[in-house]
Amino acid sequence: MVEERWQNEGAARFCVGQAFFRSSSQTGRDLGVLAAIAHRQIHGQLRVLDAMTGCGVRPIRYALEANADYVWANEGNWELRDRLHTNLRNSLPSHRYHLTHQDANAVFFDCHQRQDFYDLIDIDSFGSPMPALATSLWAVKLGGLLYLTSTDGRATSGAAPDRGLQVYGAYARSHPAVHEQGLRLLIGLAVQQAAARGLNAQPVFSWYNGEVNRVMVRITRQSKWSTERYGFLSYCHSCGQFQTVSWKKLGRTATCLCSNPEMPPVLSGPMWLGPLHSPADLAAMSKIVCSLQVQSVEKRTVEKRTAEKRTAYADAWKTCQRLLAVMQAEASLPPYFYPLAELGRRGKMDIPPRDSLIQQLNEAGFLTTRTHINSQAIKTTAPIATCIEVARQVSQLPYSPE
Ligand SMILES: C[S@@+](CC[C@H](N)C(=O)[O-])C[C@H]1O[C@@H](n2cnc3c(N)ncnc32)[C@H](O)[C@@H]1O
Ligand SMILES: [Zn+2]
Repeated sequence: MVEERWQNEGAARFCVGQAFFRSSSQTGRDLGVLAAIAHRQIHGQLRVLDAMTGCGVRPIRYALEANADYVWANEGNWELRDRLHTNLRNSLPSHRYHLTHQDANAVFFDCHQRQDFYDLIDIDSFGSPMPALATSLWAVKLGGLLYLTSTDGRATSGAAPDRGLQVYGAYARSHPAVHEQGLRLLIGLAVQQAAARGLNAQPVFSWYNGEVNRVMVRITRQSKWSTERYGFLSYCHSCGQFQTVSWKKLGRTATCLCSNPEMPPVLSGPMWLGPLHSPADLAAMSKIVCSLQVQSVEKRTVEKRTAEKRTAYADAWKTCQRLLAVMQAEASLPPYFYPLAELGRRGKMDIPPRDSLIQQLNEAGFLTTRTHINSQAIKTTAPIATCIEVARQVSQLPYSPE
């Protein structure tokens, strides 16, 4: 007998029971709620399909925090039925939700059959995002959002490239920015699958939390399929330089700028090479976070809660606010990053101080930022040789706290 322990996240109150639930995934759920609020503000309505709902925390949050008109919670595991019924009934009036226990693919086809399309489809899958990703395109509204997850790090990091080819239709090699590669392979898969159906998928935001890749994409009608942002990433293990490679230049990638014939660059892809996030969507989400912090807590959503719970609620939004700022800065930078340890190792020096290095590279005319993917790394338009040279100068500067 599993103990009934009720817990809170955002405005939701629920009991996990035997469902799969990770409190460490809260930021992913918070970001989903923010994007849902932004979508509702623009479109005036929000119908959500949570295809793999677990204990039902997401539909409850979308309904209570994003004011979703209607949420469909689906969970393949029939044994969670009583738990889900109790959780949903406890928070929502019956006309605002629907609960089913089917395979997600069957749900998507059922939606299509009845022409019942959704503004937001959340697919919080284990492991690989396929095949639910491809079939979800049958159920999403034009202009709507797909929130995707992947946790198969081996396939995207170069540890199991054959598996990557099987799932993503892309060959992933190992290099220092493989965690960004995981996000880009997932976006690339969504972009390609959408394109195959005459649709366009564009990232709203992408988030790697140390274990899980989460990507929200907006689906629109395709005006023109362009491969400009869907190509390859090359990495030279000899000098550490990354380069993007278009389909047309695939045959010319055998050498790097360092011209080491012994060690030609390795090639990963195809993957998404465009912006990791949409700056306009991030701006809308940041604005919402600010207003949530202001009205916080005190008044509406968590009025009756203890001070401790109010603090947890406010802290969660503060975390999102900081994350969104880093995402905004990194959105349009090149599709890779340089870990500081890598610069130190290649330059045979101590690990350079991140913020000074960013400042110096910016002053030297290279766009340079932090990245949310690795706090000990930089994204920059500078070549690695320049990064090492500037890092060496920075490391020799006397320490000057602000
Ligand atoms: C990662 S958990 C969901 C966690 C939940 N979204 C949350 O945020 O706490 C994935 C859930 O999807 C269910 N599931 C897995 N494959 C499914 C499928 N093909 N169709 C429907 N549900 C599925 C599993 O039983 C599991 O409860
Ligand atoms: Zn090289």
